[in-house]
Parts: sequence; structure tokens; C-alpha cells
Amino acid sequence: MEKILVLDFGGQYNQLIARRVRENQIYAEIKPYHKISVREIREKQYKGIIFTGGPNSVYDESSPHYDKEILEAGIPILGICYGAQLMAYMADGVIESAKDGSEYGKTKIYYTESKLTENIPKESICFMSHTDYIKTVPAGFKVIATTDNCPTAAMCNEEKALYAVQFHPEVTHTEYGKEILKNFLFGVCKCQGDWKMDEFIERTVAEYKNTLKDKKVLLALSGGVDSSVCAVLLHKAIGSNLTCIFVDHGLLRKDEGDFVEKTFGKQFGLNLIRVNAEERFLKKLIGVTEPEQKRKIIGEEFIRTFEEEAKKIGKVHVLAQGTIYPDIIESGLGDSATIKSHHNVGGLPDVIAFDEILEPLRYLFKDEVREVGEKLQIPKEFVWRQPFPGPGLAVRIIGEITKEKITALQEADSIFRAELEQAGAKANQYFAVLTDTRSVGVMGDARTYGVTIALRAVTTDDFMTAEWARLPYTVLERASARITNEVGGVSRVVYDITSKPPATVEWE
Ligand code: XMP
Repeated sequence: MEKILVLDFGGQYNQLIARRVRENQIYAEIKPYHKISVREIREKQYKGIIFTGGPNSVYDESSPHYDKEILEAGIPILGICYGAQLMAYMADGVIESAKDGSEYGKTKIYYTESKLTENIPKESICFMSHTDYIKTVPAGFKVIATTDNCPTAAMCNEEKALYAVQFHPEVTHTEYGKEILKNFLFGVCKCQGDWKMDEFIERTVAEYKNTLKDKKVLLALSGGVDSSVCAVLLHKAIGSNLTCIFVDHGLLRKDEGDFVEKTFGKQFGLNLIRVNAEERFLKKLIGVTEPEQKRKIIGEEFIRTFEEEAKKIGKVHVLAQGTIYPDIIESGLGDSATIKSHHNVGGLPDVIAFDEILEPLRYLFKDEVREVGEKLQIPKEFVWRQPFPGPGLAVRIIGEITKEKITALQEADSIFRAELEQAGAKANQYFAVLTDTRSVGVMGDARTYGVTIALRAVTTDDFMTAEWARLPYTVLERASARITNEVGGVSRVVYDITSKPPATVEWE
């Protein structure tokens, strides 16, 4: 399989670069610069290397550097931003700090001919974000792009297949950025594009058929996209040797538990154990109002429940997890590896006895996981599911949790989601919250004193920051009217107009 190495020097766009490469059906992997040697790079037979950006200045003592030998390894390289300056520095060019400050944002750029700039207009817009720049290109290199402020917006040594761009071709603000990357990948590195999700499925299934044979595999299925895809993929390889445990803590959305059971147990024929543990979870949550305590109790109870069920199965050889690529990528800066354990099953390895861990999706980005899910014909409701917190509706019920409150929230939430979807309104995540505020209302001729439902809808790319969604008034109006009419005990509906920050997406 063809591979491109994204050599990470601490840039903020390293994942984006890898995704852009993969959009071209070429496998890309990210490695921190200090975790891979030139020898390993040669052994792994990468078709090309991309040096990422980074926050440093090449002349700083603490700045990340790399073995010069890489420039002579005969492997095409594209340096981006800091990566461009580093390439120039390694080949004895001159870097300087701009006297009149940084060049930042959308900038007009002028290209000349090269393999990298093939078939793109001579003038367009690029996205710049730098203070240092390449003042003098190294011997053997030529300038192939300039801006009004930057004498070397791009350079190359075509004989050695070394290219460098000061701007960021991976961000959408750069017009023709995708074409530049394509020119590098196909024109310079001579890739064919063999990273395809149907081939990934075939390869993975064949491999597991071979390596797992009669081993018993256990998976915690939550109904989230990662664990669902993981389950169906493994089932294709080993059939009934895969057992999925689905712990239904009673805090799922309306009808969700039944839907998971119907889809995976009946439709896909998975060996699925649904544990109806609502009572057990609710008992533990009596009198608990503090959000972190709720989360902790549910997390622990989840593990206990899973453990008890797993013990009933007997010997398990392999524990499968839905870990995906962003969970395992290490940062190029600093020596401490920040590897995040998967949130849905974090903690499980400590309590289950097994011989090995299997992570079939560990090299896939989220959009690739979804593509695999679609190819496996998993229903859209799972493949395109919006994020749902592990503790479920517990963090959307303010104050103490009771069965009545869960039912009321499930109804209100289901109405809001249906109205929003029916109207085709745009939001990345949307749900209802049951607050602990009561207020006076009037229904018929009688006074009511019911609870308040808050509606939350946000737009976001990454869920780390979010904007409240500007939903049409008609959607809000219909949702409000239906909730107060159809859900008993609700006398008021409000819409949350806080972005993140300062608020978070969830209320607890
Ligand atoms: P916050 O509330 O922190 O949420 O702004 C950001 C995103 O993460 C989701 N979320 C969770 N997902 N387990 C999860 O798998 C959790 O415990 C959890 N808590 C919040 C939230 O829905 C939003 O999309």
C-alpha cells in the first residue's frame, strides 16, 4: 500500500494535512519528527514526505530540527510553512524574521512553472501565517511563487523532488491548495491512489479471518458510530465468535435501546447481549445532583455491569475497541506522548481478563469510519449520528434524576429533533434539556406550575468551540407548541442562545 509520511513539527494543521492526503485515496500517517529516523523512513518505503508547520523559528536553539540526510534519501518532500523554512535551513538557505511583522491571512500569490504549480492560474489567493521567511533559497533551488511581502512563497529543487511552500495549501482559504497537494502526490510522488474504503474492508476482514480464527472476541457496543462500525466489520470476519455487550443504562434517547437491538441483533444478526440496567443505574443515582458525581457513578456502574456480563461468557481472548486515528495521534511537540484512551470503553481493560486488544479502526479518521459504515450498510441514523455523551440524558436533566423526568425529556427531545429535521434546519448537534426551574403557566382556565424545557442547537466543526444555531422561528415555535401540549408537566420552553465558550454544549 502506498504511504505518505506527515512529519510533524508541532503544526496546528497536521491532522488536516493527513486528511487532505487521504481525500486523494492515499494513506497518510502522522509521526512526530523525533519518533522516526531516516533509516526507518527508508525502510517503510514512503512515496513522499510532508514536513508540517510549527510555531518555532529555525534558528531557535529549542526548535525542532531533522537529519539533513533526509534531503538526499531520494524521497519527494513537501515542506509547509515552518517545514518550508526548515528545508531551506537544512539545505543552507537563509531564513529571516520579517521586520514589519507577520504576514497573516488571505494573500495574493504569483506562481511560476513547476511540477507543483502545474495547471493552476498564475495569480490567486493563498493563506499565510508566518513571521520568518526564506530570504535566500539554497543552491540548486529556484523560487516558484512570490507574494508582495514574501520573496519565497514557494521554492523547489526539481531534480531532487524537494518542494516547499510558505503558505498553507491544506486550508480551504488557499485557492488551488487541493490542486497543489494533488500535484505533489500524483505528479511528484507518482502515487496511484489505492487507499479505498471498500478495499480497507476487504483487507481487514481477510486479515481477521486469518488471525482470529476461533478466538472469542468481546466488544462494548454503544450504538455510537465507532463501536457500531467496529462491530459490523468484525462480525463480517468472525461471525458468532464476536459477542457484543450493549449496556442500556436507561438514559438513552427515546426508543434508542430498541433500535440498537433491532438493527444489530436482528438485522445484522450479531451475537448481541442487551443488558437492561436502568433500575440499577437509577438506584445508584438517587439523590445525586452534582454533575461530576453523576458522570462518575454512571462510568463506574457501566464498567461493573459490563464486567458481570463478560464473566458469564467465559474465556475471552480478545477485547475489541472502537479507537480511531485522532485518539492515538501523538503531538510533534514535547516528548510526552498524549495518547487518549477511547472514552466509551476507557477503563475496561483493567477489569476484563483477555489476551489482546484489537482496534480495527485505529488508522481511520472519523469521516473514513463513516464511509466504512455506509459501505457496510449500517443505517444512516448510526453512521451520521450526532455525538451523544456516555452518561446520556443524565447530564441533560438538571438536578436529581427520576424515571418520570427521563420519560418527559425523551418525549420533548424527540419532538424537537423531529421538528428540526423535518424543516431541514441546519445544526450539528441538537437536543432538549430538562431544567430544574418551575414556572407559572395557564392552561385552559387553570393555573399550572410546571417544569421548563430548554432547547439547545449548535453549529460547529470540532465541538471544541460552537455557535448557537440560528434556527428559524417557525421550528422553535412548532417545537414549543408541541412540547407544551404533548409532554405533561411542562409549562415553559426556552431556547439556549449561548455559544461555546463561554458555555459548553451540554448543560452538565
Ligand atoms: P461539551 O459539553 O464539553 O461537549 O461542550 C462537547 C461535545 O462532547 C460531547 N460530550 C461527550 N461525549 N462522553 C462523550 O462521548 C461524554 O461524557 C461527553 N460529554 C460531552 C457533547 O455532546 C458535545 O458534542
